Amino acid sequence: LHISIIRSYASQQGATKMTSKIEEAKQSAARKAVEDHFDPNFSYVGIGSGTTIIYVIEAIKERSSNPQIQFVPTGYQSRQAIVDAGLKPIAFDSLPNDVLLDVAFDGADEVDEDLNCIKGGGACLFQEKLVAERARKFVCVADYRKDQPRLLTTWPTIPIEIAPLSAPVVLSALRALGSPSPTIRSNKQAKAGPLKTDQDFFIVDAPFPPLLLPQDVTGSGDGTKFGEGGEGKWEVGSLAKRIKEITGVLDVGIFWGVDGAQALKEGRGKGGQRP
Ligand code: 5RP
Repeated sequence: LHISIIRSYASQQGATKMTSKIEEAKQSAARKAVEDHFDPNFSYVGIGSGTTIIYVIEAIKERSSNPQIQFVPTGYQSRQAIVDAGLKPIAFDSLPNDVLLDVAFDGADEVDEDLNCIKGGGACLFQEKLVAERARKFVCVADYRKDQPRLLTTWPTIPIEIAPLSAPVVLSALRALGSPSPTIRSNKQAKAGPLKTDQDFFIVDAPFPPLLLPQDVTGSGDGTKFGEGGEGKWEVGSLAKRIKEITGVLDVGIFWGVDGAQALKEGRGKGGQRP
């Protein structure tokens, strides 16, 4: 018993060290992102969801107290974080017509070699996509754990936001696309029923094998083309489009085909340090 207490204490210490290393990495990536992509003279800034974005807000606060900047949230919690920091929120649907955000910052669950992302781990993917698409520049702040050659390397599933009524239809359509066990995300906090998004929709988490990039798709086999579900393999953009086409899907947690990805790649890794 004594030994087991000591061992569990030791492993808890290890876990605490790891947690603080991860938090340090998130903070350092956030600081670098703000240093490189935030200007105190901006008018509109998008603020994503999750834990990393809290460090982005912190870094923005350190750099600017300009009360003219309006911050566009990507959901309820994101708005709360903006307000808690003493910054000025503006709802997405209150933005003046034709206004583009100067920049939108957000986290991600996984990022591939071409800077496609998986998002939606925190169930906010639809508003996150709305805000990202309205920005001149989308800055995805991701620590070393999320940096992978292909999507679905370590992150297990694609989050998809769906209308509750369509759940059976969407689940069977996803199975037909090759996802072995798509499931409706449950509400762990309430310990009952499905999780509801800010739109009162459900999230489906759909596992697939790691997603290919266009450069991986070299030829076609019999029947379904390689990269379009053939041999169980999907190219990232083809799968994102097919999922989005399913009736009942509001949006899919794959942010893909990022403009200027090549240019951004050159700057990758400067923000965080691998432990
Ligand atoms: C929420 C998201 C988040 O940006 C993503 O889950 C990353 O979160 P964290 O910074 O906590 O790791 O997409 O829907």
